[in-house]
Amino acid sequence: MTQGPFPATRFRRARSSAALRALTCENTLSTGDLIWPVFVRDGVGVQEEVPSMPGVFRRSVDLIAEAAQEAESLGIPAICLFPYTDPALKTEDCAEAWNPENLSNRATRAIKAAAPGIAVMTDVALDPYNINGHDGFVVDGEIVNDDTVEALVKQALSQAEAGADIIGPSDMMDGRIGALRDALEGAGHKNVCLMSYSAKYASAFYGPFRDAVGASGALKGDKATYQMNPANAAEALRLVERDLSEGADMVMVKPGMPYLDICRQVKDAFGAPTYAYQVSGEYAMLKGAALNGWVDGTKVMMESLLAFKRAGCDGILTYFAPEAARLLRQG
Ligand code: PBG
Repeated sequence: MTQGPFPATRFRRARSSAALRALTCENTLSTGDLIWPVFVRDGVGVQEEVPSMPGVFRRSVDLIAEAAQEAESLGIPAICLFPYTDPALKTEDCAEAWNPENLSNRATRAIKAAAPGIAVMTDVALDPYNINGHDGFVVDGEIVNDDTVEALVKQALSQAEAGADIIGPSDMMDGRIGALRDALEGAGHKNVCLMSYSAKYASAFYGPFRDAVGASGALKGDKATYQMNPANAAEALRLVERDLSEGADMVMVKPGMPYLDICRQVKDAFGAPTYAYQVSGEYAMLKGAALNGWVDGTKVMMESLLAFKRAGCDGILTYFAPEAARLLRQG
C-alpha cells in the first residue's frame, strides 16, 4: 500500500478546487488528437445533411475544400474522405475505385490546393463502388480475399497519386497491409502512412454511415465473414501484430466507445500509434439524445472523447471534430 488509511488519505483533497483538479488531471484532449471524417458528393456548392446524423453533411468537392480550410484553422491535423458515389457508377468490378477522377481523388487534390497543412486520409475498401455493397468482390455469394487485395492495391495507388498522406484500409481482407506497403514503396510513395483498420468489428453501429455513403440499400447480407466478431479480444491483438509486421504505421480500433478495452490492450501490448473510430452510430446516439434534451450534448461529446485518451488512444476519428475543436480553442 502506498497510501495511508483515512483520514491520512482523503481523495477529496485533490479534488477540492479547480486548480488542484487541473494539477492532478491525468489525461487531456487537444485539437491535435482529432481526425475529421467527411462525406463527399458530386456537384458544386451542394451541402446536404445526413438524416441519421444531424449536423453532418455530404459536401461537394468545393465545399469539402472550404471545410478543410476551416479544420486547418481550428488545428485539426487530418481529414478523412468518404465518397457518396452515384449509384450509376457502382459496378461488380468496382472500377470507379481506382479512377483518378473519382470523388475521393478529386477531393484530395482540392484539399491539398486549399489547405496544404492538413493531412488527407483516404479509405481503402470497395463498398462505395460495389454494386453489392461489400468491401470486397463478391463471387458466387462469397467475398473473395486475394482478388480483392489486388483491387485495393490499385485503389490505394490512385489515392497516393492524388496526394493522400494517410491511407486507411477499412476492408478487413487478409494480406492487404503487406500488399499495399509493397506497392507504395515500389511506386516511390515512401512517406504515405498506412493506418490499418486492424480491429474492425462487424458492428450495427455503422448503420448511419451506410446511409451517408448510400451503401445501405446495396448491401446484401452482412460483413461477418471479414469483419470481427464483437465477442473477440485476443484476435484483435493478433490482427494488430500482423498488421504492424506487414508495415502498418498506425493501427485503429473500430467502433470506439463499446471497444475501449481493446484500445487499452492494443496500446499496452504494442505501444504503436493507436487510434479509435467513434463511428456514425455512436455520433447518432449522442447527438440524438442531445437534440431531445435528454443529455447535455456538449458535455457528453467532450467526456466521450476524453475517454479515448484515457483508454490509451493517440487520436480519434470523430464526426464531432470541428465542434470539439471549436470548444477546445475557446479553452
Ligand atoms: C466501409 C466502412 C464503414 C465505415 C467506415 N468504412 C462501414 C462498414 O464497414 O460497413 C463505418 C464508419 C462509421 O460508421 O462511421 N469500408
